[in-house]
Amino acid sequence: MLLDKAPSEWDGYHEPFIGGGALFFALASRNCLRGRTVLSDMNSRLIRSYLMVRDQVEPLIGRLKEHEALHSKDHYYATRARDIDSDNDIEVAAWMIYLNKTGFNGLYRVNKKGGFNVPMGRYKNPNICDEKNLRACNSILQGVEIYHQGFDGVLERAGKGDFVYFDPPYVPVSATASFTAYTSDGFTLADQERLRDTASALKERGVSVMLSNADHPRVRKLYTPGFRKHTIQVGRAINSAASRRGSVAELIIR
Ligand SMILES: C[S@@+](CC[C@H](N)C(=O)[O-])C[C@H]1O[C@@H](n2cnc3c(N)ncnc32)[C@H](O)[C@@H]1O
Repeated sequence: MLLDKAPSEWDGYHEPFIGGGALFFALASRNCLRGRTVLSDMNSRLIRSYLMVRDQVEPLIGRLKEHEALHSKDHYYATRARDIDSDNDIEVAAWMIYLNKTGFNGLYRVNKKGGFNVPMGRYKNPNICDEKNLRACNSILQGVEIYHQGFDGVLERAGKGDFVYFDPPYVPVSATASFTAYTSDGFTLADQERLRDTASALKERGVSVMLSNADHPRVRKLYTPGFRKHTIQVGRAINSAASRRGSVAELIIR
């Protein structure tokens, strides 16, 4: 659905809230990427992991196999409690992937001090070291630029003819859905306004911009006038309340 709304061609591709990179990997596997491709995110553990998948995939696979052999409840909680940021990039990447594959619903959530606090998931046989997929991602990431940077860093490099896709933490649709703490900083309404201004500045330069956000009156108001809005229904597996998983309305803004 997102793919249908993307422009038919562009020079460079930029994704400044890369997260799990769903659109980037979808575009790459369809051979849609040409020219310069730049991925960035504020989460330094995530960016260090992307860099290791791109540059050191074999040592990373080796380290993940060790986690796989040790996997247990005790190993999960001992790994989760590690002071990971001071460790080397391979350790950080293996830590991220191990916790992502074994934690509840593949969720990434941290407390104010940056401590990862997701409980262990209930998987019979988690695929902790998916070698085939890691090597495929390694191949896709060759030549891709990857930066630890806030979203407005895109203003330094995107130019006329480029395509920028923004998938920010969403405006919460209700008080209980205030689930936007992807980094320990959170993403405020002021950040949402700064994002809208960044998108406007890019459009004025002749950049094709596409954004995702919740279909919320606040978001509709933020992107008026000057933007086109399309509503889509999306399946969402990640929500703390099972009753709120399922189909939700999202906006695609261009
Ligand atoms: C909704 S997720 C992106 C999901 C992604 N499109 C995917 O397919 O998984 C939002 C991402 O924004 C990042 N983020 C939060 N605040 C940011 C900021 N100010 N600048 C850049 N990235 C930020 C988070 O670390 C997180 O990875």
